[in-house]
Amino acid sequence: MIAVGIICAALVILLLKYVFGGRGPNPFEKDSREPLKKRVYDKKEKNKVLKQGFVPSKVPENLDAVIIGSGIGGLGLAVLLAKVGKKVLVLEQHSRAGGCCHTFTEKGFEFDVGIHYIGELLHHRPFRCMLDQMSNGQLEWEPLENPFDHVLLGPPGNRRQYPIYSGGTRFTEELKKCFPGEEKAIDEFIKLVKKTKQGVWFLVLLKLLALPLAKFLVHTGLVKHLSSFFKMAPRSLTDVVNELTENKDLRAVFSYIFGTYGNIPKDASFAMHSLLISHYLNGAWYPKGGASEIAYHMIPIIEKAGGAVLVRAPVNRILFNDATEACGVSVIKGKEEVHIHAPMVISNAGIFNTYKKLIPKDLQAMPAIQKQLSMLKHGEGGLSIFMGLNGTKEELGLKADNYWIFPENNLDELVETYKKKEREEAAKNIPLLFVASPSAKDPTWEERSPGRSTLTLVTFANYEWFEEWKDDKVTNRGPDYMELKQTFINTILEVVMEVFPKITRDKIEYVDAGTPITNTYYIGAPRGEIYGADHGIGRFDPELNATVRPQTPLKNLYLTGQDVFLCGFAGALAGALTCGSVILNRNLHLDTIALARRTKILNSKMKRD
Ligand SMILES: Cc1cc2nc3c(=O)[nH]c(=O)nc-3n(C[C@H](O)[C@H](O)[C@H](O)COP(=O)(O)OP(=O)(O)OC[C@H]3O[C@@H](n4cnc5c(N)ncnc54)[C@H](O)[C@@H]3O)c2cc1C
Ligand SMILES: *[C@@H]1O[C@H](CO)[C@@H](O)[C@H](O)[C@H]1NC(C)=O
Ligand SMILES: *[C@@H]1O[C@H](CO)[C@@H](O)[C@H](O)[C@H]1NC(C)=O
Repeated sequence: MIAVGIICAALVILLLKYVFGGRGPNPFEKDSREPLKKRVYDKKEKNKVLKQGFVPSKVPENLDAVIIGSGIGGLGLAVLLAKVGKKVLVLEQHSRAGGCCHTFTEKGFEFDVGIHYIGELLHHRPFRCMLDQMSNGQLEWEPLENPFDHVLLGPPGNRRQYPIYSGGTRFTEELKKCFPGEEKAIDEFIKLVKKTKQGVWFLVLLKLLALPLAKFLVHTGLVKHLSSFFKMAPRSLTDVVNELTENKDLRAVFSYIFGTYGNIPKDASFAMHSLLISHYLNGAWYPKGGASEIAYHMIPIIEKAGGAVLVRAPVNRILFNDATEACGVSVIKGKEEVHIHAPMVISNAGIFNTYKKLIPKDLQAMPAIQKQLSMLKHGEGGLSIFMGLNGTKEELGLKADNYWIFPENNLDELVETYKKKEREEAAKNIPLLFVASPSAKDPTWEERSPGRSTLTLVTFANYEWFEEWKDDKVTNRGPDYMELKQTFINTILEVVMEVFPKITRDKIEYVDAGTPITNTYYIGAPRGEIYGADHGIGRFDPELNATVRPQTPLKNLYLTGQDVFLCGFAGALAGALTCGSVILNRNLHLDTIALARRTKILNSKMKRD
């Protein structure tokens, strides 16, 4: 007992040294918020920022770093570096910047891809303060309705609807109204969630501590003693929830949000689940003006420091010098390779793309790289449906909220059976449907697109169902592909028109589906993943957590984004913050906490004056 005490005390001292030790420049040093500028909604104007095509002459000289990929993990890191004066080039393979935060327009309807709701955005919270700095105060966030989610369980005719509320004690209070007699289970659940989530700082630590020290914590088992997060990480969601209650609907309601990271409850880690429940406990928000606002307000900060964000710039390989240190990238331009040199290369393209496609075969074979690859799996593929509707949100009965629709309450079995089906059968038996109206969430929409609305739907789909068409031209994959997509669309439309009776067939002006291979094309997801590498229990093995970190086994090559931390907008940004911490040699996670404290003091002073 005493020995453990001494070890712990010694550790705390060491941890403090490492955690506070860094003395690099602080991107949050000065408050960079500016008064709100005039809003720009004109597409052409915005494209001047978001769609700057790659030509060698636009590449700045004397770069400090090159970042592959313009997702929030890439752009976020670029902004952090730009704020301390570094000249950074971000290269994006798609024709516009933003990764999962990009938007596209079809038949005059603007759709976004991977941003439906984001939590933790209360004023004065570190995450919010950080985003304010990262957009120089120009990004605005619109709260969703409360309830922000609705869980629908059961087949047509017997759908039970459970509203999910955010805010203080409201989450539990409202659930208790729906499940009388289950008060104890509900209290116990939220208690476990909060306790587990508290231990998450250890995840940051494992990635920032010197590797030998991190490994020491892992191998002695101290991690699990010290962190409730890692203690709960090996337990599956199904396991925990089944212990709490016999009520099948309540089990499903505790579990529905697995859709935001992609592992069915029996494969999901209770730790990951706790993060997601906590993420939305204080509310859910949507970017005012749509998801493209995110990149639109970040790019100028990168440019101001002399950097650039260039699109249609697919990186085909990372360049290494004779000492196998990363020293630049090669971009395909027409039939040519353009070489760009920089002392540091950071990949936001995901760990699989980076290690399997972008580095030479002999480096790929390195045991350290192979080890990391063997620890991770590809995440679930996704299928999205985009609908353009004639009518305002009032006319169509749409609100700023989300629906999670399941035809049964046994979520594990439901999704497992689906994934084993032949594709035509699967397309007729969709087990999970996320439905949301981005237009209804955006207060600027009515001004930008009067009298019209959008609906986006997401479900999971096997990559293999679509793989045979992967090499066909994206706009012309043939009649069989179209037919399979149509089967999915028809199944989904039936559900939509039943749940939203005001949406009738004559209101639908546009509808199309994006499949896993669509995701490969537009967001570079190698197997159509919507959340990057898999987030099952294996992902939370502390060993893996200490091993997969921003530094790669190759000098001057770093990783950022969702694969280095966790998925989601917040997870990918945490990846950027972690990567930035390593590059700038200071703990930026702590800096955001300090920033939040400063902002609060500053704001209350301003109010008094
Ligand atoms: C349908 C869907 C719905 C979602 N809903 C939500 C939500 O409501 N809330 C939430 O928080 N999160 C949501 N997410 C998840 C979230 O959007 C992502 O986890 C996060 O944005 C990932 O950021 P990233 O920077 O790591 O990666 P990405 O955004 O995927 O960026 C990677 C970028 O790298 C580029 N790239 C890849 N290879 C190359 C190459 N060789 N050369 C150049 N560029 C390359 C890609 O084109 C891409 O732009 C959703 C995701 C999807 C797909
Ligand atoms: C939209 O609906 C209105 C009436 O509800 C109709 O007059 C109009 O023509 C429709 N627009 C389109 C593009 O279908
Ligand atoms: C484990 O490591 C993965 C990969 O780096 C990371 O995304 C995840 O957040 C980590 N989880 C924990 C609990 O450390």
